[in-house]
Amino acid sequence: MELTEAKALIAGKIETKTLVNATISGPRQKSNELKRIKLKPILLKDTYHIQFEFQYERILKHENLLIDEAIERLEIFYEDFRQFQFRFEKESVQLQLSKKFKVNLKTTKEEAQQVELAHDRKKSYLLEDGVPTPFLVRLGVQTPDGKVKRQKYDKFKQINRFLEFVDDSIPALPQGQTLRILDFGCGKAYLTFALYHYLTEKGFEVAVTGLDLKREVIEECNEIARDLGYDGLDFLVGDIHDYSGEDAVDMMVTLHACDVATDVALSRAVRWGASVILSVPCCQKELNRQLDCAPLEVMLQHGLIKDKFASLATDSIRAELLTILGYETQLLEFIDLEHTPKNTLIRAYRTGKAPTEEKIDRYVAFRDMLGAKPFLAVEMSERLGQISSKLVQ
Ligand SMILES: C[S@@+](CC[C@H](N)C(=O)[O-])C[C@H]1O[C@@H](n2cnc3c(N)ncnc32)[C@H](O)[C@@H]1O
Repeated sequence: MELTEAKALIAGKIETKTLVNATISGPRQKSNELKRIKLKPILLKDTYHIQFEFQYERILKHENLLIDEAIERLEIFYEDFRQFQFRFEKESVQLQLSKKFKVNLKTTKEEAQQVELAHDRKKSYLLEDGVPTPFLVRLGVQTPDGKVKRQKYDKFKQINRFLEFVDDSIPALPQGQTLRILDFGCGKAYLTFALYHYLTEKGFEVAVTGLDLKREVIEECNEIARDLGYDGLDFLVGDIHDYSGEDAVDMMVTLHACDVATDVALSRAVRWGASVILSVPCCQKELNRQLDCAPLEVMLQHGLIKDKFASLATDSIRAELLTILGYETQLLEFIDLEHTPKNTLIRAYRTGKAPTEEKIDRYVAFRDMLGAKPFLAVEMSERLGQISSKLVQ
């Protein structure tokens, strides 16, 4: 069979809206950053779409496409990948392409299965619009009968997105003990309340502390926690830089803490042996002031680009340092860009794995190319020095 025939056969099946899921793997170029693509059908505003989940080495990206667009997009992947596994309601189709695009296509009958279409709104959320959740009502996100207020919908989505990350990290948390969790720079604590609610609903014993500089906000949060009977949740007025009241924590959350406050939180988390770190940085200014890299002047001469570059480089360095410090780290999309530009989430799970020499050298080369002395590296210099003297500046 020719490749054009195989493509047409698969496109024809996709058009029947019977796709259950698909996986595209085996990039032709090992250097290809995109490693794998997963497809599944999804209903968006009652219209059938196919969701593409792009798995890069460190991040996941999603795109929802209409059928025609999806078929068109597949064209690119037939060029770049070699293995295609499609599962339809009654059969599966496996396509393998050789180096020279020789086609090997196998169709296998399957037990008929119903396609479960994920829905864009209520169904895919962990907290549902229409179902009253006490903390959401108390914080004014929902009306008493559970309707999400129109002006709070973005907040509601953000809370749900955050809970998805919390849910994903449960296997990385210690089991059978009270979980010590800190939220540094908790602000009005929508996400702290959500975290507490979600984990206790899941049956965990938790002791959660939210920390923030703002006294009034903290007093109000404590009052709300008392009203809700959330005994394992308290809030403290304090500065992330000075907080020292812990020996060990299980999870560190720091969402939108400004500039190096994020690094202070990350370094505390590592020192206290946090099993899980969820951090969304904000206003990464520190590196911006340090950047000194002639070959990048074409970019760095523009303030706008320099800002963006500094933010990306800062978060990349944070991720790299956490990996070197024994964490499996990923940079993931937190919420859509249209809601806020603060959308990179650093997710780190402790593994205790020592870095390879190659990893260390790669980081050092990047750091030195930028002329950077990252705050996090300075904060962690003692621990980094024990790993390799190259990591200390
Ligand atoms: C942008 S708000 C984010 C609030 C919340 N984490 C969220 O994502 O919705 C940042 C919060 O960090 C707090 N903050 C900033 N620097 C801090 C520091 N050094 N110590 C404690 N809190 C800090 C601010 O008071 C503010 O409430």
